[in-house]
Amino acid sequence: MAQPKTGQYFDAAPESEDKRRTISVTLAGRHVDVVTSSGVFSPGHVDTGTAVLLRKMVAPPEGDVVDVGCGWGPIALTMAMMNPEARVWAVDVNPRSVELTAHNAKTLGLSNVNAVLASDIPSEQRFKQIWSNPPIRIGKPALHDLLTLWLGRLEVDGDAFMVVQKNLGADSLVAWLNSDQGPSQGNSGLLHTSKVGSAKGFRVLRTVRSSGS
Ligand SMILES: C[S@@+](CC[C@H](N)C(=O)[O-])C[C@H]1O[C@@H](n2cnc3c(N)ncnc32)[C@H](O)[C@@H]1O
Repeated sequence: MAQPKTGQYFDAAPESEDKRRTISVTLAGRHVDVVTSSGVFSPGHVDTGTAVLLRKMVAPPEGDVVDVGCGWGPIALTMAMMNPEARVWAVDVNPRSVELTAHNAKTLGLSNVNAVLASDIPSEQRFKQIWSNPPIRIGKPALHDLLTLWLGRLEVDGDAFMVVQKNLGADSLVAWLNSDQGPSQGNSGLLHTSKVGSAKGFRVLRTVRSSGS
């Protein structure tokens, strides 16, 4: 008997059919058409958590910034529109997401977006800012590894903004991020996370990397 297709949006190789469609959305105050597909996160609209994060944000700084887990690209595209001087890296484990973000950036004329597989980022690359709606559903150990990796790539004085659903453990995530078991330990104890916003059942978290001096 054939196996059911069980691909999840966060799989590196989603098995679901690649049904593309064009949707109209508003990003950075601009009405735009973007292409999405089955097998990527929130293909029909800008996710509520993502919208909560984007409403909170001001333009990213110029230089290297990153959207961790880009999906079809709402966060990366917004960053790129808000500051043409930002070099926006958009990363995902799902090649379909990377391809869609690259396609959408090109269609919108955003030459400052660089969409790549997370594994293709050079390990020495550092970022001034991270924006992310992280993949909470990959489970705690994998999420902790992911956050330790990316928060460790923040430049000194850089910061990360993440949106997390309250019901999916936003408050316990903050506690872990600031705990002895959290990513600060592998990063010289210089990361501090706080809640900077809250709406529609989501928390916006900010992690700051300090120099320690
Ligand atoms: C909650 S979705 C957010 C997608 C998009 N940023 C948005 O706001 O619509 C999280 C994304 O993280 C991706 N992801 C899962 N594991 C990852 C990993 N280890 N590294 C990078 N991205 C990952 C998923 O494929 C998914 O696209």
